[in-house]
Amino acid sequence: ESLAGHLSTRLKGLDEALCGGIPFGVLTELVGPAGIGKTQFCLKLSLLASLPTNCGGLDGRVIYIDVESKFRSKRLIEIGINSFPEIFLKKGMAQEMAGRILILHPTSLSEFAERVSLLQQQVKLLIIDSMAALVLGEHDSEASRQQALGWHVSFIKSLAEFSRIPVVLTNQVRSQIGDESRMYSFQGQRFIKLAKSPISAPLAFPFKITSSGLVL
Ligand code: GTP
Repeated sequence: ESLAGHLSTRLKGLDEALCGGIPFGVLTELVGPAGIGKTQFCLKLSLLASLPTNCGGLDGRVIYIDVESKFRSKRLIEIGINSFPEIFLKKGMAQEMAGRILILHPTSLSEFAERVSLLQQQVKLLIIDSMAALVLGEHDSEASRQQALGWHVSFIKSLAEFSRIPVVLTNQVRSQIGDESRMYSFQGQRFIKLAKSPISAPLAFPFKITSSGLVL
């Protein structure tokens, strides 16, 4: 069995630059300012991981760590209906797809670690939105916070490796925890840029957020 594998984003240029999509087995960090679209991108990735394989999905479950309670299932279903009408308009399928996404609201890193260690076989994607908010939890000193963070980053990395799934974290500022994709806006246009594109110099793709979610 190969370690390689990708979750296709269905954003053509982006998938090509990523050699197929979001890689399995490593951490991908989405970095960008408030409101740029990190959560919107995570919603789309969650849908893609839960879609049946004959539609290019991973036919799996998703664990979505929604630290700031930003997850909206209405929005998820709207993106699903507009992006994958052939699936989402079938009777019962919107509920079935949404039901594959398990939303967790841990209030601390330790609670997070406890919940996620129950990760089942069918889980094909882990999202942590946002990492910074999760880390801000219970620690009283900066030193103890850093120590806990170090431990948990190793824990999340080994989770990604052992379960061979893509792990996507969001952050407003760069933490260098994983392979970074930066989201920013310039002259009113949003861009996503792969800092570490394996095939070319750093590439930036303009994107929009529509009723279909994030589109190039
Ligand atoms: P923080 O979590 O604050 O760091 O922001 P974020 O990067 O996660 O931003 P988010 O993904 O929440 O993006 C917010 C932007 O997405 C908004 O400014 C809107 O432009 C767009 N957006 C959010 N919800 C909708 C929606 O229901 N429809 C459409 N068309 N756009 C939306």
